Amino acid sequence: MSPPPPCVVVAALLLLLTASAAREDTCSGVTPVPPQRGARVSLTSVGGRGDGRTLNTAAFARAVAQIERGGGGTQLYVPPGVWLTGPFNLTSHMTLFLARGAVIRAHQDTSSWPLVDPLPSYGRGRELPGGRYMSFINGNDLEDVVITGDNGTIDGQGSVWWDMWRKRTLPFTRPNLLELMSSTDVTISNLVFRDSPLWNIHPVYCSNVVVANVTILAPHDSPLTDGIDPDSSSNVCIEDCYISTGDDMISIKSGWDEYGIAFGRPSSGITIQRITGSSPFAGFAIGSETSGGVENVQVRHLNLFSMGVGINIKTNSGRGGFIRNITISEVTMTEARYGLRISGDVGGHPDASYNPKELPVVDSVTIKDVWGQNIQQAGLIRGIWKSVFSRICLSNVKLHGAASIGPWKCQAVSGSALDVQPSPCTELASTSGTGFCTS
Ligand SMILES: *[C@@H]1O[C@H](CO)[C@@H](O)[C@H](O)[C@H]1NC(C)=O
Ligand SMILES: *[C@@H]1O[C@H](CO)[C@@H](O)[C@H](O)[C@H]1NC(C)=O
Ligand SMILES: *[C@@H]1O[C@H](CO)[C@@H](O)[C@H](O)[C@H]1NC(C)=O
Ligand SMILES: *[C@@H]1O[C@H](CO)[C@@H](O)[C@H](O)[C@H]1NC(C)=O
Repeated sequence: MSPPPPCVVVAALLLLLTASAAREDTCSGVTPVPPQRGARVSLTSVGGRGDGRTLNTAAFARAVAQIERGGGGTQLYVPPGVWLTGPFNLTSHMTLFLARGAVIRAHQDTSSWPLVDPLPSYGRGRELPGGRYMSFINGNDLEDVVITGDNGTIDGQGSVWWDMWRKRTLPFTRPNLLELMSSTDVTISNLVFRDSPLWNIHPVYCSNVVVANVTILAPHDSPLTDGIDPDSSSNVCIEDCYISTGDDMISIKSGWDEYGIAFGRPSSGITIQRITGSSPFAGFAIGSETSGGVENVQVRHLNLFSMGVGINIKTNSGRGGFIRNITISEVTMTEARYGLRISGDVGGHPDASYNPKELPVVDSVTIKDVWGQNIQQAGLIRGIWKSVFSRICLSNVKLHGAASIGPWKCQAVSGSALDVQPSPCTELASTSGTGFCTS
């Protein structure tokens, strides 16, 4: 056999190089948990009926109990069909698998919905004092859980809850669609989340979480239907998702005022990449609940359209905590009221016991390689006079308006701006070219 011609060798080398570049782009430090390979427990085998009318709450509980007992099977298989159910719990070392055409649909009887305690880092329900409605699908204190499928759907039927919110008849805080609490090694992938009553995917006090290849949909006028909210969680990877909801597409949080400060659990080591979508609020947000701190966050490749705000970092006096070492890069946005907002005066307080002297620290936030068109206002960066936001770096940020674009507005901020259009506010322009901010 003659040796391959040089061009083949070069092509093979190039292929190798591209492959290794692509690998480097996967979430660092977080490996998705593989789905359980053991026998499966089909919902039908525990008496479930996917006719869209039969209530399957007991069937889900039986299937999960069977897996928990080790009674043959590690995968809860949801066949094609519409499976109406009340909220249910998951267990450790299990895979919840939704076949193509399978829909797990929440019932709309809000009066029978169980209540659970508020999160310790919030001290009360997020919307109303006291407890909160149990999330639709729950995992508490679990390890090694995979929630996946062949693009099946988890449907929260949230309209009944949104109407109660609009009419102000909600007695307690609405349920999230999927909440994992105090759990490690969780993968959520290849599913559609639709019409959540409140937040869609909420990992709280978790570590090693991957959310990949999910579609999250809710109407733009549905209240507080955030897409994915990693909360006091570490080692989180969110990638390759499409999100169009009524509130922030992705928002990193870590507890609320005196409760979050006392609990003291930051969100850290978070990678977010290749996210597409649209929202009347933010594409990527941090806050406003950040009292446990948020650090070491890397966000890249966002593709945003019809936005309220492209990138939004929000905190407040009384929050305490920190937001630091955040890098956001390679963002395109088409149509937004604001390209960027970083504000120190956003969000209410849980009760009157918060300490207004607890000031957040915002330091080392880099936003680079951003390109926007049809942007109404470039952005607002408003720090807190007694806690000036520092080392804010804007690099290669080009925002264009349909006709003219509103200028940057800044106060109580220091940092640097390189290659920014429209021309940056003087607070950033006057200190350009320092080490923390490069192109
Ligand atoms: C879910 O698990 C919690 C404990 O983690 C328990 O208090 C609750 O009753 C369970 N709820 C359902 C609906 O099984
Ligand atoms: C999954 O379903 C969503 C919503 O219908 C659709 O937009 C998406 O293309 C589907 N993805 C796959 C891989 O089938
Ligand atoms: C997401 O989809 C891609 C392409 O189909 C696949 O390679 C990857 O393994 C999926 N991620 C997860 C966590 O399932
Ligand atoms: C900043 O965060 C990145 C991850 O996004 C991490 O690799 C790096 O070590 C952090 N830097 C500092 C100074 O903590």
